[in-house]
Amino acid sequence: MARNKMKVSLIMSLCLLLCLINIQQCHGGEGDVLLKLLETRQMKKRSANEVDEVAAKERHVNSALGSIIPQRGSKEDDKISELPGQPRGVNFDQYSGYVTVDADAGKALFYYFTESTQDPSNKPLVLWLNGGPGCSSFGNGGMAELGPFRVNNDGKTLSLNEFAWNNLANVLFLESPAGVGFSYSNRSSDYVTGDKQTSEDSYTFLINWMERFPEYKNKKFYIAGESYAGHYVPQLAQLILSHKKTDPNHVLNLQGIATGNAFIDIETQNRGSYDFYWSHALVSDEVHEGIVLNCNFSAPSLSDSCYEYKKQADFSRGDIYYYDIYAPLCGTPQNTSLPISGYDPCTSDYVDSYLNTAEVQEALHVRGITQEWVSCNSSIHASWQDSPDTVLPIFQELMQSGIRVWIYSGDTDYIVSVTTSRYAIDKIKTSIKKSWYPWYFEGEVGGYAVAYQNLTFVTVRGSGHFVPGYQPGRALTLFSSFISGTLPPEYHI
Ligand SMILES: *[C@@H]1O[C@H](CO)[C@@H](O)[C@H](O)[C@H]1NC(C)=O
Ligand SMILES: *[C@@H]1O[C@H](CO)[C@@H](O)[C@H](O)[C@H]1NC(C)=O
Ligand SMILES: *[C@@H]1O[C@H](CO)[C@@H](O)[C@H](O)[C@H]1NC(C)=O
Ligand SMILES: *[C@@H]1O[C@H](CO)[C@@H](O)[C@H](O)[C@H]1NC(C)=O
Ligand SMILES: *[C@@H]1O[C@H](CO)[C@@H](O)[C@H](O)[C@H]1NC(C)=O
Repeated sequence: MARNKMKVSLIMSLCLLLCLINIQQCHGGEGDVLLKLLETRQMKKRSANEVDEVAAKERHVNSALGSIIPQRGSKEDDKISELPGQPRGVNFDQYSGYVTVDADAGKALFYYFTESTQDPSNKPLVLWLNGGPGCSSFGNGGMAELGPFRVNNDGKTLSLNEFAWNNLANVLFLESPAGVGFSYSNRSSDYVTGDKQTSEDSYTFLINWMERFPEYKNKKFYIAGESYAGHYVPQLAQLILSHKKTDPNHVLNLQGIATGNAFIDIETQNRGSYDFYWSHALVSDEVHEGIVLNCNFSAPSLSDSCYEYKKQADFSRGDIYYYDIYAPLCGTPQNTSLPISGYDPCTSDYVDSYLNTAEVQEALHVRGITQEWVSCNSSIHASWQDSPDTVLPIFQELMQSGIRVWIYSGDTDYIVSVTTSRYAIDKIKTSIKKSWYPWYFEGEVGGYAVAYQNLTFVTVRGSGHFVPGYQPGRALTLFSSFISGTLPPEYHI
């Protein structure tokens, strides 16, 4: 046993070393934070019940849930005249600013909103959420994935994203919870938070945002997000639907949700990850077999022998880019491996320098924060409280409610792999309406889709974790099908 422990610590220090050598792998990212969350939870061997108890004890009771709060901001003040380094040809309105969600605490959430490029009043409203927990929806989703701009490698100028989702919808990016991105609270205890508080604050945000943008009241509304937002998205949808039942003046016309490479169930997340490693030739047969034989991911805690094989699997995988197993790393001297989609893995560095520029923050109406902007706030994640092991029951409830429920997955991500999503869907036990078929984008297979009863599953071929970032054209096709309520195009065009 002692020898095993030594081996484990040797492996761990090697990992740390590799990590230090390679800046990219240490760079706080959405999946990075999610991995740490999963590790901590397994280490602490906390059961779901314990987590809920902690949450109930430490959470502030928010009696103001969903109420209208006096605001300092206004739509006129939030209008962005121009972002520094913005290219020519911007044909849509953009807004950003703060919505106070708790006046006593001084808690305000930051949003960035882009209206559609064409006919915004006839387009739906889409809320986008990134995960972590602790990652910024604006800096990640907005600036590196589906937003209208991408930050160039000078960290100062922007270029237009041809496949931005505001081609088809009005898109709202919310930095949530307080402490993430530009969002903050004047009461520091608010930074110890969890799923429940996050969905409540997001709900209060939406109700108050609607007062500032009343033209969006009752408009068709969708929520989409990725990674740990696999918790945020269904939880917020559930809260909205429960308020809709009791409030006759409800203004959120929720039509559907979509989650991508989403963490929704811890058992299938674990089991599926190691099966993905093996089926993608990242680990040996022996290590995979060791995991299959020694790990019971349904049990409240994992055995020592399971930990040992997990460590071996993580080590033998080597230092590859975990958001996309076939992409190059940021910072490698020569980039020899081809990024499948031409995505630059250093993108988050460019966003980082752009959003930490004083003129940029001024143009975005950032105020009240003194710290630098970070893509993912690790201290928010480190003190994260309630996080149920599974949100599949919420997915099932939403499926029965009649709203559209989509689960999509880029198939080269190993953080929340396509295998984990398939195992999770399998647990839902819904019947197939239209079986697995290839869908197309620009004459090529964009991925595969299955229509289940009240649930659609879509894969995106050759895409890592950040689907709209890695495969923007395929992602826009998927999004277009989602909001129009059709399946992704079946025929080779
Ligand atoms: C937080 O405190 C600062 C300084 O007192 C104040 O200007 C700001 O309005 C407060 N934020 C909120 C949301 O009340
Ligand atoms: C795995 O753990 C669950 C929950 O503790 C238990 O019901 C099940 O029998 C275990 N499976 C195996 C193969 O030991
Ligand atoms: C790969 O090389 C190109 C051209 O030299 C450079 O622009 C890009 O930033 C490099 N990408 C990575 C991942 O280092
Ligand atoms: C991150 O969260 C902590 C609280 O957990 C907060 O004090 C800090 O200002 C946040 N931002 C950064 C960049 O650390
Ligand atoms: C699908 O939705 C209908 C009603 O909206 C419901 O009766 C049925 O149970 C749902 N089926 C599943 C598998 O969610």
